[in-house]
Amino acid sequence: MDHVKWLISVLLLLFLTHLCISTDTITLDHFIKDNQVIVSSGKIFALGFFSPGSSRNRYVGIWYHQIPEKTVVWVANRESPIKDNSGILRIDSQGNLALFQRNQTLPVWSTNVSITGTRNSIALILDSGNLVLLQNDTRRAVLWESFDYPTNSMLPFMKLGWSFRTGVDRVLTSWKSPDDPGIGNYSYRINPSGFPQLYLYKGSAPWWRTGSWTGQRWSGVPEMTSSYIFNVSFVNTPDEVSITYGVKKASFITRMITNETGIQQRFTWNNQARHWIGFWSAPKDQCDFYGHCGPNGYCNPDHPDDFECTCFPGFKPKSSEAWFIRDGAGGCVRKPGISTCQKGEGFVKVPRLKVPDTSAAHIDMSMGLKQCENECLRNCSCVAYASAYAEINGGIGCLTWHGDLIDARTYADAGQDLYIRVDASELARFTKKGLFRKKGVLAVTIVSAAVLFLILVALLRCLVRRLRRAERRRKSKNAFSFTSSSLFEDSVGEKDIDESRRNGDLPFFDFSTIAKATNNFSSDNKLGQGGFGAVYKGVLINGKEIAVKRLSKYSGQGVEEFKNEIVLIAKLQHRNLVKMLGCCIQGEEKMLIYEFLPNKSLDSIVFNESKSSMLDWKKRIEIICGIARGILYLHQDSRLRIIHRDLKASNVLLDAAMNPKISDFGMARIFGRDEIEGDTKRVVGTYGYMSPEYAMHGHFSIKSDVYSFGVLLLEIITGKKNSSYFPDSPSSSLVGYVWELWKEDRAIEIIDSVFGDSYSANEFLKCIQIGLLCVQEHATDRPMMSTVVFMLSNETALPSPKQPAFTVKTSHKGDEILNSERTESTNDVTLSMVQAR
Ligand SMILES: *[C@@H]1O[C@H](CO)[C@@H](O)[C@H](O)[C@H]1NC(C)=O
Ligand SMILES: *[C@@H]1O[C@H](CO)[C@@H](O)[C@H](O)[C@H]1NC(C)=O
Ligand SMILES: *[C@@H]1O[C@H](CO)[C@@H](O)[C@H](O)[C@H]1NC(C)=O
Ligand SMILES: *[C@@H]1O[C@H](CO)[C@@H](O)[C@H](O)[C@H]1NC(C)=O
Ligand SMILES: *[C@@H]1O[C@H](CO)[C@@H](O)[C@H](O)[C@H]1NC(C)=O
Ligand SMILES: *[C@@H]1O[C@H](CO)[C@@H](O)[C@H](O)[C@H]1NC(C)=O
Ligand SMILES: *[C@@H]1O[C@H](CO)[C@@H](O)[C@H](O)[C@H]1NC(C)=O
Repeated sequence: MDHVKWLISVLLLLFLTHLCISTDTITLDHFIKDNQVIVSSGKIFALGFFSPGSSRNRYVGIWYHQIPEKTVVWVANRESPIKDNSGILRIDSQGNLALFQRNQTLPVWSTNVSITGTRNSIALILDSGNLVLLQNDTRRAVLWESFDYPTNSMLPFMKLGWSFRTGVDRVLTSWKSPDDPGIGNYSYRINPSGFPQLYLYKGSAPWWRTGSWTGQRWSGVPEMTSSYIFNVSFVNTPDEVSITYGVKKASFITRMITNETGIQQRFTWNNQARHWIGFWSAPKDQCDFYGHCGPNGYCNPDHPDDFECTCFPGFKPKSSEAWFIRDGAGGCVRKPGISTCQKGEGFVKVPRLKVPDTSAAHIDMSMGLKQCENECLRNCSCVAYASAYAEINGGIGCLTWHGDLIDARTYADAGQDLYIRVDASELARFTKKGLFRKKGVLAVTIVSAAVLFLILVALLRCLVRRLRRAERRRKSKNAFSFTSSSLFEDSVGEKDIDESRRNGDLPFFDFSTIAKATNNFSSDNKLGQGGFGAVYKGVLINGKEIAVKRLSKYSGQGVEEFKNEIVLIAKLQHRNLVKMLGCCIQGEEKMLIYEFLPNKSLDSIVFNESKSSMLDWKKRIEIICGIARGILYLHQDSRLRIIHRDLKASNVLLDAAMNPKISDFGMARIFGRDEIEGDTKRVVGTYGYMSPEYAMHGHFSIKSDVYSFGVLLLEIITGKKNSSYFPDSPSSSLVGYVWELWKEDRAIEIIDSVFGDSYSANEFLKCIQIGLLCVQEHATDRPMMSTVVFMLSNETALPSPKQPAFTVKTSHKGDEILNSERTESTNDVTLSMVQAR
């Protein structure tokens, strides 16, 4: 009896020991059921059954044993969950580790390797988090390991990438969702083709390119420096391309995951705070998204123009329209007419770059950069070159590209140099800009090109001189007027126009784009109607608001001429001019696209009792000065001399900060190219703002703009329209009324009452005086705009204004015009009429 008791206690003890001692192995004799685990010897990782998130499905996985929030780093049956608690993980008859569901003879999951010899294998969970299947013989060969079949997590000392001998490709794949560890849409893997790179893919499409290995880091991970807490080893041999992250301190707990939302993340465990810390993640900015700027474009997140995409030197946007709406994905194409095959081409350096996709690049590790350049220059299909391992000994190896350059971006203070092949003319441009650093052979090329150019210039000069002499001999009259220098200026001008169109400075929009943006020119979108056509508000697909001026039937120029005109005018850029964004020409339709300004036009505020208080005295002075500077620019500072011919309050728009922007500039030019100076048969303008010589005789000059400005100035500070009715004044116009008051020293009486006491009487009187100087009857008496700007911004003695033009004068035709002014005075519309002279 005692013996039996003793035997039972011993058996019980053995049984309990077997139950309680957690072990790190699964053997033929020792399997695990749901709710049982095995733990690695150092108690770092555990393997067992779990349910992810809010799911009730059961999976076999590996997690950190000592971290309270269960963090799963590997899942066995990720695609075949068990719906109940009947799962059993054991060594099957073939020696594989397999997961069975009760009642089923086929496993739900298995290591599924073919095993020869002893089949009583051992599965072991290691402190690294690796689950290994070992053969139970003296050699203890590894039959299978979970590190070769990663799920979404990469642990230290785990390899990612290819072993070409075994054909194993270790890839991270995202879960479907936090509740479902099934294979999701994102994967993180090494693409060994060309010069090997690491990518995050969405499905089969690249999502973010970690890039190629530069010797110390990935080209797309500039923050990865040598002081990084990891020691990383990148292997690139005929047998293997892989990356391993080791940690410099064993106690350091870190993992990298491919998140189901398409983010590559690294976490570190903070043992004091007991939570995971987001250590690093990518993609970070829009420039990280693969091919954001399309083929041959590169992305600069700090681009001063706000649009991050730029074409590589020698390329232009494929669609200037797409470029304009800030969609760079279409990328860039070679500028037309460019020859880059043994015609004196060279290379332009683009610095601080994540070099383009190298999966189709050619690699030669035996060459240095100099040799690389020669090799690339010699081979006409080579479009760019760079160092392969840019961060080893100042750069070793030679990478050359022979097709499109895709997915390059710049970094503020990282990245490497890429050298782009450009033709001789492009090269000259960049050399001029100082962007290009000439080197060796290229220097010689440039010098000889420059010498050639000088010789050509000399020859041309000589030719011109000869021509001229011949011409003089032929004609006694001195009719031959152009000089060699004007010849050059002209050709430069032509080239610029061409260039700007090629560069996409001025996009030409599709009619359909504009129709869509303006809701088919619906009346709801109409902002107004001017003499040159109706204006519509539009919204482009990227959400940008635009104003579209649909030009009324316009005759005169051909389409080409019109385009040239637009390109020239679009080049006028001043902060007090409305920015022209592009145009649209389709058949008879001609439209101009402008930036949209939210605060409408000056007249809608200054002459509106409920709104006029929005503009205090100081702001009005700023507006006057802004307008003056804008006109000065048109008259004098721009390359084209532009006479506006239709300055008025409704043509001055206000931006969000109430800065004035002159609109409709250049309209006169578009509508009457041949009539830009001198006399015109067609009077374009608005009564009340027209100078007498223009209204009556059709004679216009920059001084007729000065007249209009004078009227505008007086309107702004008095808050009254020139065309208002002034009972006290016989002339019945603001100009006349102000003049009357000025003569009697009572000008202060007409100040806009909205200012209260918050204005300076001296300033007001100064403005009145400047306004009156601008509206003097004789054009020659009126100041130039430069003088106006000077007078406005300096304390200076002002001349006394003479009688303004405001009364009906001698001309009979003039009578008619000024009569019609009175009848149409409420309608502040631009008129365009043909007047017989
Ligand atoms: C197991 O199989 C038997 C017979 O095939 C069946 O009666 C029983 O319901 C099954 N049990 C479970 C849990 O599926
Ligand atoms: C094991 O591998 C074979 C072929 O490699 C495959 O047909 C089979 O479905 C796999 N079995 C499991 C359980 O994964
Ligand atoms: C390994 O194999 C030997 C002999 O076949 C056996 O005695 C031993 O129990 C096995 N070990 C395990 C852990 O299965
Ligand atoms: C994967 O992508 C496809 C297509 O974009 C989408 O329909 C599906 O819902 C995605 N799956 C997951 C798990 O996000
Ligand atoms: C990292 O450094 C440690 C210690 O020097 C070394 O044991 C380990 O192998 C290294 N790991 C890698 C991936 O280079
Ligand atoms: C992925 O990221 C999302 C959002 O940051 C988070 O809710 C989710 O838990 C993450 N998934 C994993 C597997 O960590
Ligand atoms: C140019 O380089 C490419 C890639 O290295 C090569 O395939 C091609 O044969 C080369 N062409 C010439 C003319 O050398």
